[in-house]
Amino acid sequence: MRRIVFIQLLFLAAATSLAGQTASKKAPAPAAAAQTPANLAQLMRGILYPASNVIFAAQSTDPAEVKPAGNPSTATDPLMSTYGGWQAVENAALALVESANLLTLPGRKCANGVDAPLRSPDWAKFVQGLRDAGMKTYKAAQAKNQDNIVDAAETMTEACASCHDKWREKPNLADRCK
Ligand code: HEC
Repeated sequence: MRRIVFIQLLFLAAATSLAGQTASKKAPAPAAAAQTPANLAQLMRGILYPASNVIFAAQSTDPAEVKPAGNPSTATDPLMSTYGGWQAVENAALALVESANLLTLPGRKCANGVDAPLRSPDWAKFVQGLRDAGMKTYKAAQAKNQDNIVDAAETMTEACASCHDKWREKPNLADRCK
């Protein structure tokens, strides 16, 4: 059994180097167009929500005091992971800054099927607010300054809420994003 795996690996190595050779002779591939398989709610739940929780947690818990998980490499809480403590707060802040770019990609739908309101000038303003709040949080995390994190978390809360007030907080889901 071991032997089979070994042979397969050898074969794979040969195939990859061959592929490498053919690829190097061709012109560089054009950059793949961005795609948006997640609706806006899924993007929020998958990236913005978990990242912002790391920042909100750092208001009351000093990240430097968080003990690593039993097995940090499989930890589901970034603060207790291999990249834990203040580094987790830095990374969460940067994830939010980068998520602002995802919020500007064309083609994004809201969960109710309505186009995300990308063309509204307010959308651009709120996305920039998220970016700025993320950078403020990143600087606070780099400085390992919990007072500044409390301040930055407040700015972040406002950045999330200003967009939600306009497009999310509706009695009927069908009216979101309109
Ligand atoms: C530029 C606008 C905008 C910003 C900024 C924004 N959101 Fe959202 N968010 C929305 C909209 C619109 C929805 C509703 C999406 C839908 O129904 O498809 C939403 C939905 C959500 C949801 C899902 C709610 C549900 O019904 O399940 C969560 C969670 C969320 N946002 C968290 C956040 C957090 C945390 C932040 C800040 C770090 C944030 N959002 C910043 C526009 C924004």
